[in-house]
Order: sequence, then structure tokens, then C-alpha cells
Amino acid sequence: MPTWTGRLWTERLALTQSQRPFTAVAECDRPVGFVCVLRQDDPQWGLCLDNLHVLPAFRSQGLGRVLFADAVRWTVKTAPGRPLYLWVFEANRRAAEFYERLGGRAVESCLHEAVAGMAAVSVRYVWDNPADLI
Ligand SMILES: CC(C)(COP(=O)(O)OP(=O)(O)OC[C@H]1O[C@@H](n2cnc3c(N)ncnc32)[C@H](O)[C@@H]1OP(=O)(O)O)[C@@H](O)C(=O)NCCC(=O)NCCS
Repeated sequence: MPTWTGRLWTERLALTQSQRPFTAVAECDRPVGFVCVLRQDDPQWGLCLDNLHVLPAFRSQGLGRVLFADAVRWTVKTAPGRPLYLWVFEANRRAAEFYERLGGRAVESCLHEAVAGMAAVSVRYVWDNPADLI
């Protein structure tokens, strides 16, 4: 039986090219990192970066920054002038520091539904003008 995440990605990847989220994979003989940006454009916050992960053995080598830059370039091209945002678990200080390093602005903290429909206290990070990062 597919997991909640498996079902989510099966649905996403079954969408037509024009509806599908942006995804990029970093490879080093095998997939080692991944980023995804959803197309839905929130009127206030813009497009949502929904996943950014690098395998533990490949962290702190610049891959997260490269994947984030890919996501930014796609956002600027697809939705010029729109902000980019994401949610990060409040407890995930390492990721929060990474996003702060990349210029993200923490704008709110609240209970937010995340993986498998479970809610966790999360912080919203926003980049008001992603084009400035290119
Ligand atoms: C967060 C994550 C994607 C960062 O990827 P990474 O490949 O390790 O990051 P990079 O090596 O590209 O680092 C980019 C910059 O952030 C900084 N940085 C990275 N991790 C950091 C940390 N824990 N604390 C402070 N700064 C950090 C680096 O110093 C670097 O800055 P510099 O280029 O100016 O020196 C990775 O740690 C990860 O996959 N974590 C687990 C999954 C996760 O929590 N994802 C976020 C969910 S919202």
C-alpha cells in the first residue's frame, strides 16, 4: 500500500507538464538532493518551495545552495515579480539557519499541516524579490 508521500507524488507527477510542480534532482552517480516548487500562487506569499533535501553524506558541500538557486531561477521565469516562500519546522534550526543564510525573512510562526497531514509548529520564510538572488 502506498504511503501518504507516495500517493502525493504519484498525483503530482501524473499532472500534465504545464500543471506539474518544478522539480530538480542533484545526482552524484545516484540522486543525492532534491528540490520542488509548487505552481499555486498565493496572493500574499507567492510560490511555495515545498521540499529541499540533501542526503546527509552530501551536505555542507554547496548542493543545497545550488538546488535553491535552481528553484529561484524557475520561480523568476515562471512567475516574474512574485515572492517565494516555504515552511520549515520551528525545531529544525539547521534548516532555518540555512534559509537565513540565503536571505530568507521569517514572517510568522504557527501550527502548520505538513507531512502525512500532521501539524507541527513551523516558521514561514519569504523571499520578497527572488530576482535579487540571481
Ligand atoms: C538544509 C539543507 C538542504 C542544506 O543543504 P546543504 O547542501 O547542506 O547546504 P549548502 O552546503 O549548500 O550550504 C549553503 C549555505 O548555507 C550554510 N549552511 C548550511 N547548513 C547550515 C547550517 N546548519 N547552519 C548555518 N549555515 C548553514 C552554508 O555555510 C552555506 O553558506 P556559504 O555558501 O555562504 O558558506 C540540508 O542540510 C538538508 O537536506 N537538511 C535536511 C532536510 C531539511 O531539513 N530540509 C529543509 C526542509 S524545509
